[in-house]
Amino acid sequence: MPHTTDRFDVAIVGGGIAGLAVAWRAQRRGLRTVVLERDRLAHGATRVAAGMLAPISEARVGERGLLALSRASLDRYPGFVEELAAASQRDPGYSACGTLLVARDRDEAEALERELAERTALGLPVERLLPSEARRREPALAPTLRLALDIPGDHAIDPRALSAALAVAIERAGGALREGAAVARIVTADDGERVAGVELTDGAHVHADQVVVAAGAWVGALDGLPAHARVPVRPVKGQIMRLRDPAGAGLLARVIRMQPGYLVPRGDGRYILGATMEEQGFDTAPTAGGIFELLRDAIELVPGVAELQVEEVAAGLRPGTPDNAPVLGPGAVDGLQWAAGCFRHGILLAPIVADALAASLAGEPLPAVARPFGAERFASQREAVAS
Ligand code: GLY
Repeated sequence: MPHTTDRFDVAIVGGGIAGLAVAWRAQRRGLRTVVLERDRLAHGATRVAAGMLAPISEARVGERGLLALSRASLDRYPGFVEELAAASQRDPGYSACGTLLVARDRDEAEALERELAERTALGLPVERLLPSEARRREPALAPTLRLALDIPGDHAIDPRALSAALAVAIERAGGALREGAAVARIVTADDGERVAGVELTDGAHVHADQVVVAAGAWVGALDGLPAHARVPVRPVKGQIMRLRDPAGAGLLARVIRMQPGYLVPRGDGRYILGATMEEQGFDTAPTAGGIFELLRDAIELVPGVAELQVEEVAAGLRPGTPDNAPVLGPGAVDGLQWAAGCFRHGILLAPIVADALAASLAGEPLPAVARPFGAERFASQREAVAS
């Protein structure tokens, strides 16, 4: 028999980085907030994420809006983690380590020259390094290195430390966290004109004036929204390895961005090696081929990686919209809010997503930099699917 009638101002569907960051900021604005997580908090894509805070390394031609959003989020990071550390009494694991983009052969060096030209044209701070200078800065790089770009402003954070700190801060602020609370559907009222809460798979109801969809790759599993209010999100698998140097920190100080993978130092002798990009549904099984490719590329560029111990092999699912950009703010039903589709940038975008959604939940407009990412841009695709 259905049970429980809880009442909140805001119910957040999904306890990954987006849901947790939004919950903290919303609760601090005085909105009574609950996070509903189907599994364990931050155990989906957030747990597997490397935590690159790299808007300049990840910038793609034609994605100026996303670059502006990403840079705005990175600008907020130092203040965000300082407040979070004070609120949680935990270290969120931020590192202003910088990033090197590296090329190991002529083709990759040419690609890197193009990346340099694109970033220079956008006025982004990037320094071209000859191999000798790159190896002076990061001596573990292979002598065969052809070219590198230094991007000191691209940083990193430990997503596990960050999400653990957020969970503590939410509870200290009076917010509620529920694990094993799988949302089956969004409940609407007034003939589907406004949201009234959610129903869990066990039949329990959680009443809320506003519902934030922060369900990562699982957005499509939520029932209850009319076709015109839905947003298409697909899973994009990424395999990673967690490696550990028994000798401690020192192999690498900066994030090393290869083509197409990366190595992210945690500063304590641990390194995240990622990540594959695979589109094959909700499969999270690591594969021999995926891990082989990551290791092959990493060892070619940083031979010392071969000596590292393997702590963990894992895969997660990035949430991708049709344009691979996030969906933020109000939806097509009153009280529906989106904090979804952050694709490769969920950790980087956490501060701006949190602030944008907290503003929107409080009835304020989204910050200007977030406005291009509204759900309405998918309206024509929804109509096409429905017809
Ligand atoms: N942010 C890097 C990735 O998604 O692999």
